[in-house]
Amino acid sequence: MLATRLTTFISTRAVQNTTLRCIGTRASYSTGPDFTVTDSEIKIDGKIYKKDQWTNVSPTTLSRVNRKLHLHPQHPISIIRQLIESHFHDFKTFHDISPIVTTQQNFDDLLIAKDHVTRNRSDNYYLNESTMLRAHTSAHQLQGMRSGASKFLISGDVFRRDEIDASHYPVFHQMEGVVYFDHDPVKTAEQVNADIQMGRLKEAENVKVVDDTIIKPENPMQDRHTPETLEAVASHLKYSINSMVRKLFADEPDLEVRWIDAYFPFTSPSWEVEIKYKGEWLEVLGCGVVRQELMDQAGLHDKIGHAFGLGLERLAMVLFGIPDIRLFWSQDERFIQQFTPGQIQKFQPFSKFPPCIKDISFWLPNKSWEENDFCELVRDVAGDLVENVELIDDFTHPKSDKRSLCYRILYRSMDR
Ligand code: DAH
Repeated sequence: MLATRLTTFISTRAVQNTTLRCIGTRASYSTGPDFTVTDSEIKIDGKIYKKDQWTNVSPTTLSRVNRKLHLHPQHPISIIRQLIESHFHDFKTFHDISPIVTTQQNFDDLLIAKDHVTRNRSDNYYLNESTMLRAHTSAHQLQGMRSGASKFLISGDVFRRDEIDASHYPVFHQMEGVVYFDHDPVKTAEQVNADIQMGRLKEAENVKVVDDTIIKPENPMQDRHTPETLEAVASHLKYSINSMVRKLFADEPDLEVRWIDAYFPFTSPSWEVEIKYKGEWLEVLGCGVVRQELMDQAGLHDKIGHAFGLGLERLAMVLFGIPDIRLFWSQDERFIQQFTPGQIQKFQPFSKFPPCIKDISFWLPNKSWEENDFCELVRDVAGDLVENVELIDDFTHPKSDKRSLCYRILYRSMDR
C-alpha cells in the first residue's frame, strides 16, 4: 500500500520487474523556464548551478519545470486544487514556490536520514549534490510554518525519477496542508471544537469511515505531547480530511474512507488515507502529527500541529475519468476546452489511435544498471508518444555471464 508514488514519498517503492511505463511530455500552458545546459553548469532563469557527479536532470525534465498546470483555471489539476482550497477557505495558500530546492529542504529539514534510500540519485532529479527538483511539497512545510500562518496549503509540481505505471509521470502535482494549535489541552480542544461546530468539517459525519488505528509503539505519540492534545489534534486532522473527501466526491453516495497506520520521518503518529471508489481502495494521501523537532526549527516550540500531503493527478483522474496521465499535458484544445473552472465533469475522449510497438534489446554495461535511467532515456528521445515500456526478456549468457534485456516500447499518440 505504501508503494504508490502519487501520494507517498517515504515509502517502500514497488519494484516492478516486468512492466514499467515511461512517459514524456511537451510544453503546455506556460512556456517553462529559460535554461541552458553546458558541460559544467546549468543556468535556469539566470541562476547558475555548477554540475557535479550528482547531476542527473535532463533538458526534457527542465523543460517541464514551472509549467504550472495547477494554476490554469480550466485545467482539471487546478480545479481540484481550487476545490480543496475552497474547502479550507481560511487557510493561507502558497502556489507559486519554485520547485528548485536544496536537499536540506527536501530531506534534512524533514528529518530524513542521510542514508535514507529516498535520497537515491536514481529516484530524484538533482541539479547537483545540494540542489534538486523537489520530490514533494513537504519540502516547504518549514517555510510555511515560518510565515506565521497557523493554517496553510502549498500546491505545486513535484518531480520523481522512478519506474512508472499507467497513472504515473515524472512530473505531477501535490498539495500540502498544515495546521497548528497551542499545546494546551483545554485551548486545543476548544479550538478544535470551534472548527468542527463551524460546520465546514461537519460534513465528515456523512462519510462511512473505517478506522481501526490506535496509538501504539510502532506508531507512537511523541514524548512532548500529552494524550489529550494528541487526541484533539488527531481528531481535527481526521475531520479535516474526511470532510474534504466528502466535498470532492459529492456525487458518490456510498463513499468509504479508510485510515491505516503509516510511517513518515516527519510525523508521528502517521497515517495513510484510502478511498473506496467504484469498489476499489485508492490511496490518496499521507498525513500525521508533525514531529516536534520540525515545529522547533520553525520557532513553534509550544505548538502542536498536523500535516497532510496528497497527489492531485490521482484525484483528478478518478473524478474526471481521465484514463491516461499524459492527457494532463496535452496541448490539444479538445482537452482543455472540455472543462469549466470550479466544476468536475467527465472527460470525453477525443481521439483513439492504434498503438505502434517496437522491441529493443541490448547487452547491459558492466557497471550497475538502473531501470530508471533507461526510462529517462526513452522519455528524452520519444517524449509523450511513449505509452508503455515493458521488459519482455531477461537473458544471461551461460558462458560469458553477460546479461541482455529486451524491452517492448508501445507508442501511441494522444491527439494526432
Ligand atoms: N510528502 C509525503 C509524500 O510525498 C506525503 C506526506 C505524508 C505529507 C505525511 C505530509 C505528511 O505532510 O504529514 O508521500
